[in-house]
Order: sequence, then structure tokens, then C-alpha cells
Amino acid sequence: MPHPIAKKRLITLIPVPTTFVLAVFVLAISPNPAPAQSDYQPSPENLQARREFQDMKFGMFIHWGVYSVLGDGEWVFHNRKMTVDEYNRLPAFFDPEQFDAKTWVALAKAAGMKYITITSRHHDGFAMFDSKVSDWNIVARTSYKKDPLKMLAEECHRQGIKLFFYYSQLDWHNPDYYPRGATNWPNGRPDQGDFNRYLDDYMDGQLTELLTNYGPIGGIWFDGMWDKPSADWHLAKTYALIHKLQPAALIIPNHHQKPIPGEDVQTFERDLPGQNTAGFNTSYVTTQLPLERCDTLNENWGFNIGDSNYKSAAELERRLARTAGSNSNYLLNIGPYPNGEIDPEFATRLHSVGDWLAKYGDSIYGTRGGPIPPADWGVTTQREDRIYVHILDWHAPLLALPPIDKKILSARSLIEGSPVTFTQNADGVVLKLPPAGKDETDRVIVLMVAAKPM
Ligand code: GLC
Repeated sequence: MPHPIAKKRLITLIPVPTTFVLAVFVLAISPNPAPAQSDYQPSPENLQARREFQDMKFGMFIHWGVYSVLGDGEWVFHNRKMTVDEYNRLPAFFDPEQFDAKTWVALAKAAGMKYITITSRHHDGFAMFDSKVSDWNIVARTSYKKDPLKMLAEECHRQGIKLFFYYSQLDWHNPDYYPRGATNWPNGRPDQGDFNRYLDDYMDGQLTELLTNYGPIGGIWFDGMWDKPSADWHLAKTYALIHKLQPAALIIPNHHQKPIPGEDVQTFERDLPGQNTAGFNTSYVTTQLPLERCDTLNENWGFNIGDSNYKSAAELERRLARTAGSNSNYLLNIGPYPNGEIDPEFATRLHSVGDWLAKYGDSIYGTRGGPIPPADWGVTTQREDRIYVHILDWHAPLLALPPIDKKILSARSLIEGSPVTFTQNADGVVLKLPPAGKDETDRVIVLMVAAKPM
């Protein structure tokens, strides 16, 4: 689905209402995608991986590809309506000599992130790995001639960070991506192609490479199905292939629709689960699968030289807490430079968030959202006999909470450790709040509760 930035660009081409109507119409007429793994029974390894995924809470999203050379986001091929021949010249300029997997993984760790999801192939179809399925890849088409995903996978395994691969189902380059979809423009491809061959040979071929040649992989993060929502994407076959090759690998589809059998995580683009400010997210939130929210650190996914609209570290910490309070992971994106270096503005903020998590991590990692639903004043997270009350936007000395079904044994501020006065009865809980610390982005009160409900 053309996201806000791309939609903004599309808007210049198509008046907004039409875009929106187009999107909604495409979604409206398209029944749920072709049934996928209707008999899917997640394996014990997969269920364990889901729990570990939820415990990790915070990941690094990386959008990096030959499009980074133009410094105009990952949709530049589409937004500049280039032809395939014109775009084919780009890999020659992509030579990331400054790329260092150790530095990237170390930055994720310093930020307190537990996993990395990197674009192995984006909508331009260019494989950022050594693929034998097509020579439209970094080893065959660039003077760099190395496989950065191989180096990243080895480094992630070395540093104990899980690695996920973003894989675009949408392809603006491959002629067999035919019939074309909602984002198509005439870019020189012949007006014919074999979509079944695209799915069964090309896509499944590359997914087999990604799930065979890089060691244990956390999962596959799909994107782009929204380009042809009513097409038969052979999901049953592809999902079964992934679960066969790596049973613990999680399938995370960014199709903005209700999860379908075979999928292991529901993801939301930019929005908190259930919200839809972006205009294309479903308001349906599953209670059966882990949740994930992906977000940009500035406004773009891919490197955009004109985008210095960076969110502050405080804003990122608040978004992480609010997302955890919605029982969801937070996948925060960076778009590295074409030479492989990471924007220092990103690095500075990620280090600050890491310092924050070094103090507040107990109230995030390993928790689940609740028991109190997210509210304007803040959110709650819980783990075993602890409930963490995250006060994000409340300035009065008392905070009234709805009833909690477990007896509160004690309350204290997470950071200072000082006791907090509280009352609890059938009508709810009232906390007498300690004053907010200077620049405190999230005032956390820890409630120790009895193991069993009252
Ligand atoms: C949207 C964009 C895509 C981006 C993705 C990340 O689907 O089209 O470019 O990779 O969001 O969530």
C-alpha cells in the first residue's frame, strides 16, 4: 500500500481523494486474500519463537538498497516513473565500502534492540544477497560483489541478535510480475508475463536461498501484497515452504488485512495496533498472534537526504512504551547511507534509547500489554507478579485507575525505588504520584501483585 510518504508523492500525480478512494476501493472489492495454510498448526518451535519474539519487544528495521544511492527514499523508481533500463544503471553506483556488519549489529545492541529486520529485496526487486535465482542482485550487478546479508547473519549469530528478512512480494522490475498491480506505471516491461512462474520459481526460489544459506532466521517480513490484493499469491505453498525449511521462522505479513492461517505475527505500519491514522491499516487486532508495529525514526524508510525530521529520543522512548502497552513489539527503522555508514543523527538517538532501556528495561522486555488498556495518561505492562504503570502524559498528583483483579501488595517508583502510596477497592486504584523527574519521558510505578486474582 502506498504509505504516507509515497502517497504524498502519488498525490502530486492523483488528487488525494482518488488515491484514498482507490486504496479503499481496491481493498473493498478484494475478498480476503486466497486462503493460505488453512490447516496450519504452528510447530512447538514456532510457538516458542512467538513467545521469544514477544519478549524481545524492540527491533531495528533496516531499509537499504541500490535506491539509497539517489537519497530519495525506497520508492524512487516508482516516484520518478523511471524505466527499467534507466533503473538498471543504478547498481553500478552502489559500492558500500563503509558497510560493517559489526558496527550495525553493535548499534542495534547499544539501542537495546533484540532483533534486526533488513530489506533482502524491496519493491525494485533488487536482491541485497547472493541469489542464484536471478542476476538482479548485489553480487552480480555491483562492483561491491559481496553479500552483506551473509556478513550480517554471521555477525547477528555471533552477537546473539535475531535476524529477520524483509521480502517484497511486489516487484516493479521482473516482467513475470504480471498482471501488474495498483502501483504500476509503464516502465518498459513487455505487456505479458507468467505470475505463477514469478511466485513458484522466482519468489519461492529466493525464499529458499534466504532460509537455507544464512543459518537460523527469525522469520520473513512480507510486504507488497496490497499491490494486488485479490491475486492468488500461492500463499499456502509459500507459507508451507517457509515453515518446512525453518519451523521456528515467523511469517510477518504487512498486507494490512486480518491475519490469515499460516501467519505468525500481525504487523501494523506506523500505527499502534487497532489505530488507522495511516489510512490503510486494519482496525482488526488479533488476540491469537504476537503483534508488531513498525515505525520510521525520521519520516522515510529508505535513505532520504532531504529528510531531517528526526523524532527525539524522548519521543521514541514514549512510542516504545506506548507500543509495549498495546501488547506489541516496536520495530524502529533506519535508512543507512549508500556507502554503508549510518546517519549519526540515528546513532545518537539510538544510543539514548539504549541508555533509557538500561534503566527502564524491566518494564518493557518480557512484558505483555495490560492489564489496564492503553489510555491518554499512559499504559501498563505486566510480567509475572509485577504491573508497570507507565505515566506518559499526566500531571495531577493523583492517578485513578480502573479496578485490577489482583491484590496490590506494594507500589514503588521503578527508578528511585521509593514507596508510592495507593488505595485499592472494587472501584479501582488510586496512586499518589511522586513528582515527575526532570525530562522524565516515562514515570514508571511498579505494582507488586498477588499471584492469584482476588
Ligand atoms: C510500506 C512501503 C514500503 C516500506 C514498508 C515498511 O509498505 O511501501 O516501502 O518498506 O511500508 O513498512
